[in-house]
Amino acid sequence: MSLTKVERVAVIGAGTMGSGIAQVSATSGFHTTLIDISAEALTRAKQSIQQSVEKLFSKGKIDETARQNALEGIVSGTDLALAAEADLIIEAVTENKPLKLKLFAELDALAKPSALLASNTSSISITSLAAATKRPSQVIGMHFMNPVPLMPLVELVRGLDTSAETVAVALEVCRAMGKTALEANDSPGFISNRILMPMINEAIFCLMEGVGTAEAIDGVMKLGMNHPMGPLALADFIGLDVCLAILEVLHSELGEDKYRPCPLLRKMVAAGYYGRKTGRGFYTYTT
Ligand code: CAA
Repeated sequence: MSLTKVERVAVIGAGTMGSGIAQVSATSGFHTTLIDISAEALTRAKQSIQQSVEKLFSKGKIDETARQNALEGIVSGTDLALAAEADLIIEAVTENKPLKLKLFAELDALAKPSALLASNTSSISITSLAAATKRPSQVIGMHFMNPVPLMPLVELVRGLDTSAETVAVALEVCRAMGKTALEANDSPGFISNRILMPMINEAIFCLMEGVGTAEAIDGVMKLGMNHPMGPLALADFIGLDVCLAILEVLHSELGEDKYRPCPLLRKMVAAGYYGRKTGRGFYTYTT
């Protein structure tokens, strides 16, 4: 079996996840392109990549070549056609199914026939994204974790038609990016969010029902279970809107009451309290 050699990576979506993926791709030596419809988002991504890279460089975690690759080497722009030469396109746009389906159809039309199309989705079916293309065997989930430069995991998700070659190429790319890939089948929430989101949701129920304060709930999980962050702080970090969207998918697709999003989570999202990114969630943030 001759594997597609991935040299050029295009990342679509310059939010937290997309910029982190582009950063790791560039520091790992891939020719990297970062595309977003918003020029402002690209400018913010550039700033966050710079901050992160300088921090990692100052700690000796990356060398000068990797630093330069990320600071100078990433091509960025607002035109999707910039992805046409990529061997691997990683989609990391908002968690919105119609948007992703449309994007996959567009990417399929402009990408090289040999290119793989990956999605960083945290809950949307890879099989349904693949069905929006004429190359379903070359579509795969590559679910990175936030913050991408620090977290070692990529959850690799096989759609119904994902080929063994596509999995092998994606595994090789993860290895080259210094990540450990673990495989999951295409099921709502995959492994990560099938387990993480019910824990976060239960923590929110505990808060709503007055079982404990936010500090006590998070403290119990940090000090008692050695989690680096409590579940409420983690929900703020991920984004309460994102948590709600994932829980909605788990609830509607698995059909069990145990995935019912907590009413307090719904209320906070309705109020625009999305967590760190809006400065207010279960905690308040000044930066
Ligand atoms: N790049 C480089 N350095 C970074 C960074 C980044 N993006 N983010 C944080 N750091 C650095 C900080 O600057 C800090 O450096 P100094 O010690 O030199 O100041 C260091 O990392 C530690 O950070 P903090 O002091 O802020 O706090 P911490 O020790 O708690 O570490 C953390 C931060 C790594 C995020 C840690 O809290 C953690 O691992 N949290 C859990 C994260 C997690 O669960 N992620 C998965 C979320 S789920 C997901 O992503 C998928 C989904 O589908 C929802």
